[in-house]
Amino acid sequence: MPTKTAFETLRELTPTISVGILTADLLSLGSEVSLLEQQTDVKLIHFDVMDGCFCPMMTVGPPLIKAVRTRLLKDVHLMIERPEAKAAEYAAAGADIITVHVESCVHAHRVLQVLGKMTNANDPERGLIRGIGLNPGTPLEFIESLLDELEMVVLLAVNPGWGGQQFIESTRRKLEKARQMIADSGKDILLCVDGGIKRENIAEVAAMGPDIVVTGSAVFDGKAPVQNAKLMLEAVRS
Ligand code: DX5
Ligand code: ZN
Repeated sequence: MPTKTAFETLRELTPTISVGILTADLLSLGSEVSLLEQQTDVKLIHFDVMDGCFCPMMTVGPPLIKAVRTRLLKDVHLMIERPEAKAAEYAAAGADIITVHVESCVHAHRVLQVLGKMTNANDPERGLIRGIGLNPGTPLEFIESLLDELEMVVLLAVNPGWGGQQFIESTRRKLEKARQMIADSGKDILLCVDGGIKRENIAEVAAMGPDIVVTGSAVFDGKAPVQNAKLMLEAVRS
């Protein structure tokens, strides 16, 4: 049997959540991730990579992504300047999804083409999923001509920088427009929404029809990540 690609695997799982580790206790990240893997149906782990330039904070890089031993798909969100200079290191670290921001690429189309030639270090047959990220202030039109070179659109519902921020309401209209734009393209493209999605608004966000909902602080709130993840997953599926 041929190996399923990461895209095929993910498409079968949608709608689903991608659990962001930004507010997790990094010193116990390994055990927290294995708990999610063993006790929930979570299949995606979201790494927010920040460089202190494109966005205010600095977070993790390829060594940490590589160090997390897991069967979960690694969803790497690059909020960094000149991602083309670093993307290969993230692919080598085991990324299954690499999202670059349209605002941080001078030649976004070329960056996506280059990503399309990279190999998945976990299994070359799995392929890499290319995502394009849009900040809340960036119009959707910026990515319309990129749709032939990507597999996922990521709408940020907060300004990049921190976990635990408030969902920006204009994302609602943008999600609707993005769904239409993807349908018009005739391509099978995953739609993801990232930031500010908590227990209180996940049902409402899920009703807007995204394929993937990133959820960080609602899972890693210092209390019960397994129960939290189960609850969030149930909400996107119902
Ligand atoms: C924002 C990040 C998000 C965010 C998600 O810069 O891209 O992934 O950390 O965290 P919550 O769910 O806490 O908003
Ligand atoms: Zn993110």
